[in-house]
Amino acid sequence: MNILIIGSGGRESAFAYKISQSQKLDKLYIAPGNAGTKQYGENVPLNVNDFDGIADFALANQVDMIVVGPEEPLVKGIHDYFLDREDLKQISVIGPQQAGAQLEGSKDFSKEFMVKHQIPTAAFRSFDQATLQEGLAYLETQSLPIVLKADGLAQGKGVLICETLDQAKAELTAMISEAKFGAASQVVVVEEFLRGIELSVFVLTDGEHYKILPSAKDYKRIGERDTGLNTGGMGSVSPVPFATKEFLDKVEERVIKPTISGLKLDQIPYKGFVFIGLMNVDGNPYVIEYNVRMGDPETQSVLTRIQSDLVDLLEGVAKGDLDRRSYTVSEKTAATVVLVSGGYPGKYQSSKPIANIENVEKSYVFHAGTKEEAGQVLTAGGRVLAVTALEDNLFDALQQATADAGRIFFEGKYFRTDIGFDLI
Ligand code: AMP
Ligand code: GLY
Repeated sequence: MNILIIGSGGRESAFAYKISQSQKLDKLYIAPGNAGTKQYGENVPLNVNDFDGIADFALANQVDMIVVGPEEPLVKGIHDYFLDREDLKQISVIGPQQAGAQLEGSKDFSKEFMVKHQIPTAAFRSFDQATLQEGLAYLETQSLPIVLKADGLAQGKGVLICETLDQAKAELTAMISEAKFGAASQVVVVEEFLRGIELSVFVLTDGEHYKILPSAKDYKRIGERDTGLNTGGMGSVSPVPFATKEFLDKVEERVIKPTISGLKLDQIPYKGFVFIGLMNVDGNPYVIEYNVRMGDPETQSVLTRIQSDLVDLLEGVAKGDLDRRSYTVSEKTAATVVLVSGGYPGKYQSSKPIANIENVEKSYVFHAGTKEEAGQVLTAGGRVLAVTALEDNLFDALQQATADAGRIFFEGKYFRTDIGFDLI
């Protein structure tokens, strides 16, 4: 099978690594990829939202399957585009069509979906320009802190946790009337603040059957002990020690089953990954958000634990017989530490030479923001590399990943040395 991965981050590097291991793979392409994905396949200089270009390339190179990494092309309808064109129909796309992608593309849609299908989530109401005054009055009736969420995609920045009523009112007004997050905040979800510990559960589905992938926890803040600004993700671990069998059974019964059956009931076809962001509130799961793709850097920790042939599973998704595909997961623990450019998530410098990757022997090094110029690997983004260790227990995995993160060098390199240690 010839497979094309869409995307260029650490997540896509992990996909490329795992897919490259498959017996079923003939040729692997990554568009656009990065300096690291070249070791697993061929990079193709195409933008993730260039559907015409992707289609032309796929036809010219007999691509059988497209695995979509990021959410944006899904929300923009890449899967629908392939289904709509007669000459592209035989190419499988892993990732939902636009209707299903609304689970991530619109917070209001996903909240309504959860209410309709009785999936536990925080109490909420949505407001827009026409109902702003009602929204301001609603805020006065709510307890603090309160959560405001831009309805649309806002590059992970559209969620505000407001500690005071004045702040909440000012932010609601700024989001709706002053387009604080552009068109994404024309509608705002105002949501009850949930107290608990977060984790993510990933599901692969063909729309009918599903496999529950390893759960993971990610670390979003830039600073040690979860301080400072939010980032795309500074590290992850899988499995999550507090996600006991009892808790995960509740997740399956209360969240996963009604999500898959809800999509079917609502006649929303869905072939791909569902990323369920959960809050564990006193042992009970509440959905914070859905994403319609895998997480980054969760994928690095999740895929390294999957022992089965990922391409076989993805083929099951495409053909609708995922229930008949073998699926096994390693008992080991994976820990991922992300190396970022100094200054990230604010301003940072790029094009710094990266040295000593070859000194890492025991961990996987997944490239994210990297490029190659004249044979030299250079930094090319905020998140530069993800170092993933797979060891017998959490402590060993964390130690290994952290030590290996220290073995790599580039000017301004920064990484958190406390990823996962809160769980020990
Ligand atoms: P999201 O973009 O939906 O992932 O939200 C970003 C972060 O805001 C989450 O990872 C949580 O840490 C936090 N968050 C979102 N919704 C809630 C909520 N209802 N209660 C508490 N924290 C929340
Ligand atoms: N690590 C969070 C995300 O991928 O959205």
